[in-house]
Amino acid sequence: MASPPFLGIAASLSLLLISLLLVRFFPLNSPPPPPPPSRLFTAQQLAIYNGTDDGLPIFLAILGSVFDVTKGKSHYGAGGGYNHFAGRDASRAFVSGNFTGDGLTDSMHGLSSTEVKSVVDWRDFYFKTYIFVGKLVGRYYDSEGNPTKYLKGAEAKAARGAQLMEKQKNEEAKLPSCNSRWSQDTGSEVWCDNGYPRLIQKPLEMAITGKVSKRCACFNEEELNQPGLEVYSGCDHFAKLCRL
Ligand SMILES: *[C@@H]1O[C@H](CO)[C@@H](O)[C@H](O)[C@H]1NC(C)=O
Ligand SMILES: *[C@@H]1O[C@H](CO)[C@@H](O)[C@H](O)[C@H]1NC(C)=O
Repeated sequence: MASPPFLGIAASLSLLLISLLLVRFFPLNSPPPPPPPSRLFTAQQLAIYNGTDDGLPIFLAILGSVFDVTKGKSHYGAGGGYNHFAGRDASRAFVSGNFTGDGLTDSMHGLSSTEVKSVVDWRDFYFKTYIFVGKLVGRYYDSEGNPTKYLKGAEAKAARGAQLMEKQKNEEAKLPSCNSRWSQDTGSEVWCDNGYPRLIQKPLEMAITGKVSKRCACFNEEELNQPGLEVYSGCDHFAKLCRL
């Protein structure tokens, strides 16, 4: 005959089993795990983690998200090539490359949509590669840790930048690019297996970078009198290969 303690154990075991089964079959009834606590930093608190003190982790912020980049110490630590990013939010410098004075700012003011997209891509990179530790209170997060209108604005602009780039890619795919090669003896050459090389303006480049830029595409004989096609200087109208 089983002793009372054994019965007690059996009873708790079956209770445990039943609750496990319930969780297994009714997972929607179990509350979601609480999100990890997100720490809020002021600019002054973040500045402590600039890589100067070997006993402290190294943090950087981008678009107000703070990451622990200690595992990249050789880059982010004192004397490293990315040390300017440590202990602050220098979002703009990820695309401007300007690490001097006011270049180390979190302001995106006046950047193009594709440049803002590039900063958002960098933030994605840090989410994938390093450890998210919290938010910087300031331009992109308010004192409660909620995104500000600046963060929403930057993300919306980045989405427009992504759309533009996608559209440009689709436009470019409609026209086959020239082959190209370079060698010491002949320098640069472009050529077409089918058709004739012409310089054309990259579609949407003006909207994306604010500059005109050109690329080499191949055209059939009957397409050659379209507007906007430029014969390489010094190259024959019907040459299949042009030296640059
Ligand atoms: C860098 O961090 C150290 C402590 O880790 C701090 O004493 C120093 O003031 C910081 N530098 C700046 C420019 O904030
Ligand atoms: C970097 O930014 C600062 C402040 O905006 C500016 O004065 C400086 O000319 C810039 N440097 C470069 C190399 O663009």
